[in-house]
Amino acid sequence: MTLDLDWVRGRFPAFSEPSLAGQAFFENAGGSYTCAPVIDRLTRFYHERKVQPYAPYEASRLGGAEMDEARARLAAMLGVETDELSFGPSTTQNTYVLARAFRQMMRPGEAIVVTDQDHEANSGPWRRLADEGIEIREWKIDPETGHLDPEALDALLDESVRLVVFPHVSNVVGEINDVVAITAVAHAAGAFVCVDGVSYAPHGLPDVGALGPDIYLFSSYKTYGPHQGLMVIRRALGDLLPNQGHFFNAGVLYKRFTPAGPDHAQVAASAGMADYLEALSAHHGGPSTGADAARFAHDAMRAQETATLQPLLDYLAARNDLRLLGPRKAGGRAPTVAVELAGRGEDAAAALAAHGIMAGGGDFYAVRPLKAMGVDLDKGVLRLSFVHYTTPDEVEKLIGALEKVL
Ligand SMILES: Cc1ncc(COP(=O)(O)O)c(C=O)c1O
Repeated sequence: MTLDLDWVRGRFPAFSEPSLAGQAFFENAGGSYTCAPVIDRLTRFYHERKVQPYAPYEASRLGGAEMDEARARLAAMLGVETDELSFGPSTTQNTYVLARAFRQMMRPGEAIVVTDQDHEANSGPWRRLADEGIEIREWKIDPETGHLDPEALDALLDESVRLVVFPHVSNVVGEINDVVAITAVAHAAGAFVCVDGVSYAPHGLPDVGALGPDIYLFSSYKTYGPHQGLMVIRRALGDLLPNQGHFFNAGVLYKRFTPAGPDHAQVAASAGMADYLEALSAHHGGPSTGADAARFAHDAMRAQETATLQPLLDYLAARNDLRLLGPRKAGGRAPTVAVELAGRGEDAAAALAAHGIMAGGGDFYAVRPLKAMGVDLDKGVLRLSFVHYTTPDEVEKLIGALEKVL
């Protein structure tokens, strides 16, 4: 199926913003445009509800109710219970809190499996536990393709491994890892699983319940929402890990791993992400609410992106003056495409800007995967990333600009 892109782009004020006119946006993996329902809710909150929530007066009651609404609707879309979803300042911050909790639960000599495919947010916080006696085992990518081979995980697992962490999608390799299969292997060995879904969620909210991990992390500012880190922690693990919040909140699962006070307005405005996905589904003939709408929106967005991505992959794969990282078939990857060039990625991005292309260059905090694939970190990569609202014409424009600047 193809999306009604006029309708879709009509839901994003950035596309009618005069200062952005004529600019094709290809740095979505850094942070997406924000959908109108989120901006509208944020504005309403600051105008009408910007008071301490959950008190009995009306403005406060409405603010608290909107925060609860965001958690309940997004949790349902993610296939988990409402109190299994919590909001923190960012995914990186959430991971640091989780790492502390695991440290308190684990005994010295027990092990965590990390990858060299992850963004630093789901790597460094865990690796630092080596300083406190936790054994860190690295599940390594193929240095040529960046592929994380599920079969190689087996050899790293034994009874001392308490946790396996890996990305749903790396923000430079782009390949979609098989979360279901990997989680099953880790669980069979008695380990918990933490998945960084930051580079996957913008392409369709996953059914975390069906995927199976114990923790699933993503960032709403890359998923059409405000700047928050969303964290699913399944109850069995959440009850087991030591509480990291105030002692008197220990009985409330969604408060146990978010020691910072919540950003009320942003949590409330996150309900706008659910509004948008439901409206997208309904507009294209799908269900109009809840998890069914989220599944329909996911599949429709993925189909749109896959069709839009293949021409770009074909173009890049055919050039012999650059190295395309990750899979060449759109179906197995996200439209987050990193290329290694003869020169610096940032210089190429600057040259593209002169042609109305917004893209980025550098390491994107994916220092470990780039190093493992032999990329010179001083040069970094050029990254071209998009989502479902990107048009085939914009991809054509990008290819035209690449022709001129590379
Ligand atoms: C794959 C991936 N994981 C984690 C993060 C960190 O997210 P946050 O900025 O919310 O800490 C990013 C940010 O770029 C990312 O791309």
